[in-house]
Amino acid sequence: MNKKSITQMNLQGKKVLVRVDFNVPLSGKEPPITVTDDTRIRAALPTINYLLAQNAALILCSHLGRPKAQEDHYRMDPVAARLQEILGRPVKKVNELVGEQANAAAAALQPGEILILENTRFHPGETKNSPDLSAQLADLADAYVNDAFGSAHRAHASTEGVVAPMRAKGGECGAGFLMDAEIKALGMAVTDPPRPYIAIMGGAKISDKILLIDNLLQKADEILIGGGMANTFLKAKGIEVGTSLVEEAALPEARRLLEMAGDRIVLPVDVVVAPHFAADAPGEDVPVAQIPTDQMALDIGLVTVQNFYHHLQGVQLVVWNGPMGVFEFERFAAGTNAVAQLLAQLTDGGTKVIIGGGDSAAAIAKAGLTEKMTHVSTGGGASLELLEGKVLPGVAALDEG
Ligand code: 3PG
Repeated sequence: MNKKSITQMNLQGKKVLVRVDFNVPLSGKEPPITVTDDTRIRAALPTINYLLAQNAALILCSHLGRPKAQEDHYRMDPVAARLQEILGRPVKKVNELVGEQANAAAAALQPGEILILENTRFHPGETKNSPDLSAQLADLADAYVNDAFGSAHRAHASTEGVVAPMRAKGGECGAGFLMDAEIKALGMAVTDPPRPYIAIMGGAKISDKILLIDNLLQKADEILIGGGMANTFLKAKGIEVGTSLVEEAALPEARRLLEMAGDRIVLPVDVVVAPHFAADAPGEDVPVAQIPTDQMALDIGLVTVQNFYHHLQGVQLVVWNGPMGVFEFERFAAGTNAVAQLLAQLTDGGTKVIIGGGDSAAAIAKAGLTEKMTHVSTGGGASLELLEGKVLPGVAALDEG
């Protein structure tokens, strides 16, 4: 993509509507509600600080959760409070997205000031991509910056619809630094991957990721598979996997992918099994051909980790999406942690390592290795869709660079 970047826009002293993805985890539904992980807020700081340095007036907006209506526990107040704390400067907040209050607050906003609008999804027009809401949003500002990579796969009023009315009134629409960085990092894997390129896939279900695996098989040299989805592939190869999670309905797809890929799909050769799904269940490392009928696989085994290690030697690019086991349980986190450590070693040797967001990003953070990676995506669904080769509407809408 060659979209207009924030640095190509004339934003000096202007009022700028900035769509961020501040869809962050919260402490709960009862006050005091606090932000429990501010990674996504911090990820928007380069754009926010740049705009402040341009003496712009910042009108930030984001969705938070998936509220059906105006649910108080999804108000943006805790997010505004956290941003204010991080920036060490006042962040104003209004209790509506558009309307009299929002208009008045936006009109009164001075250069160097920051305003957060209410949760975009409190307005029914947001997810419907309503032209009327889009026009009202565009009316608040002189220009639009989209830094919400995590929401770029949604064609909503604040991520896509707002661009047309903003452009119609002569306002520029460009990508913030986070959006730019995400698209460059993940886009490289789709359009121009350095080789050898290996993808590591995990997570529970194949059905969520069939399109992704299909696309990766066209782009990557090999795909190493772990996590729950490996069971379905093993079963598709005729291996008995005991009581492990298997997606019976996805078996034909798994067979098709295995046939298409040949030995480019690399499966576990051993797994850590347990009698039941629990944090304190006793685990045992067994070859995949010897999974007991009354046990389930909850992690990849040591020999598999070593095998993955050999495959990863000399690789130029790795994309990782999905944990190798039930990493939330300490006893079954070893495979995921070992892969995280392997990847950290690879980046030390110059390999580009891209973490495709969601659970793998959480696993990397838990292992304290986020800083070691070339890029850790802040997107879940958005990074999946980009890696599937889809066009993200929130990106497509922006001005050409
Ligand atoms: C995410 O958390 O992946 C994004 O913020 C998008 O949220 P959504 O899936 O509710 O649209």
